[in-house]
Amino acid sequence: MPEKMTKSSNVVWHQAQVSREMREKQNAHRGAVLWFTGLSGAGKSTLAHAVEEKLHRMGCRTFVIDGDNVRHGLCADLGFSDVDRVENIRRVGEVAGLFVQAGVLTLTAFISPFREDRARVRSILGDDFIEVHCDTSLDVCESRDVKGLYKRARAGEISDFTGISSPYEAPEHPELRVDTGTDDLGVCVDQVIAYLAGKRVIRA
Ligand SMILES: Nc1ncnc2c1ncn2[C@@H]1O[C@H](COP(=O)(O)OP(=O)(O)OP(=O)(O)O)[C@@H](O)[C@H]1O
Ligand SMILES: [Mg+2]
Repeated sequence: MPEKMTKSSNVVWHQAQVSREMREKQNAHRGAVLWFTGLSGAGKSTLAHAVEEKLHRMGCRTFVIDGDNVRHGLCADLGFSDVDRVENIRRVGEVAGLFVQAGVLTLTAFISPFREDRARVRSILGDDFIEVHCDTSLDVCESRDVKGLYKRARAGEISDFTGISSPYEAPEHPELRVDTGTDDLGVCVDQVIAYLAGKRVIRA
């Protein structure tokens, strides 16, 4: 039973009959969160979806939670101020935790620039948190400029833009670092799959 604070004292946890262990046994793999972090344009979404495709073909239960997508629903009320970014990442961490309980291999693609926020998600998810740093230089991301946002940020049209007017705090000890700036996508995918197999999250 979780020991988290609630606003109301009249909330009683209801224990499920179907446990996480039962789901994982049925799935033949563990539930876990691959938390992709990196600059805009580093390749988080591209890599997360490519890894998901491969895992799906291997018969795993998967789901990608993507930064831009949650801002249409779950986090539609949040902007990009520091306070809102913190709340955005907290909510995603909690939702990812529910997916893990459901036995799903969950892949998240959020810039998640602040170390403290990622540390908070790590504390929510414990051993289920696998931090993957999509390590790409600002120069490469800016030259890709997939969404045209760097150009707009340089022109002063977007405030608090990570890498330009807001810091990106790179992970110091990520579980995995992938060079999405120079390595081919296939190489990066294989690296992630090998990590999961090595840690016995999935079968080799
Ligand atoms: N090894 C690689 N892994 C991932 N993407 C790569 C790789 N090599 C080149 N790319 C390219 O880099 C771009 C990455 O864009 P993508 O939208 O995935 O970034 P993102 O990190 O999700 O950015 P944002 O935070 O803005 O959503 C794509 O055009 C992709 O094809
Ligand atoms: Mg993305």
